[in-house]
Amino acid sequence: MTRDAHTTAEDSATPEQGQLSVFSNERLLEQPSIALPPELTANTRLKMDGLHLLAALPDSAVPAAFFDPQYRGVLDHLAYGNEGVHRGQGRASLPQMSEQAIAQFIGELDRILIGSGHLFLWMDKFHLCTGFRDWLAGTSLDVVDLITWDKGRIGMGYRSRRKSEYLVVLQKAPRKAKGIWKVHTIPDVWSETAPQQRGVHPKPVELQAELIEAVTNPGDLVVDPAAGAFSVLAACQQRNRVFLGCDING
Ligand SMILES: C[S@@+](CC[C@H](N)C(=O)[O-])C[C@H]1O[C@@H](n2cnc3c(N)ncnc32)[C@H](O)[C@@H]1O
Repeated sequence: MTRDAHTTAEDSATPEQGQLSVFSNERLLEQPSIALPPELTANTRLKMDGLHLLAALPDSAVPAAFFDPQYRGVLDHLAYGNEGVHRGQGRASLPQMSEQAIAQFIGELDRILIGSGHLFLWMDKFHLCTGFRDWLAGTSLDVVDLITWDKGRIGMGYRSRRKSEYLVVLQKAPRKAKGIWKVHTIPDVWSETAPQQRGVHPKPVELQAELIEAVTNPGDLVVDPAAGAFSVLAACQQRNRVFLGCDING
């Protein structure tokens, strides 16, 4: 990461250091008006390849997007081994994404985001620890935060047992918070009981709703090109935002 090279007042200030306030509860950034192509219906569960959905969207159009790839890495590197036999079965039957596909999705998401727009990237433990910079090559996205989701329910693991997942917060250049990120009450460890749905692993609706509130205006578009159980659609409905997303499985 290149954090040192980028360090600004945004990184070092705290709310207590009131005199240098980089925090604001207002949002000055507005989404340009865009006409969606007729084949893309908003606020529904579209069944299509996420790369086709993204390709149909114009450049610099969307203030926020979520991406939650079906990581092959977890199965390979944490050696579930028993996939297709026991608990791994539901997960293994979902379409996996190669590293190349993930990078392609991220490139497209970078293209459709407006300047200073956010990409919330759900990340498995393996990639978080070993690095994911290659996926950002050629984009103007940079890491601005990390949120740990405490799922409240203990899962599998050959060593420690997993109870959390990670959300990397990326921002398209220019990287800034003031006038862009307007909710300052979201803790970086978020407790929300994981919704249970066989096969898919829905992400926490409340957390995603808070993040949507922080970086978009009512009526703005939020994109999720690999939506699984469509938890981001539920979050958008809760906060009066327009959802555009799909899953290859519908
Ligand atoms: C981890 S799940 C997403 C879960 C989702 N965030 C939720 O909260 O329910 C990843 C999803 O990516 C989908 N997927 C895999 N390849 C895809 C592609 N090329 N286009 C769209 N969706 C894809 C899988 O079907 C799977 O449902």
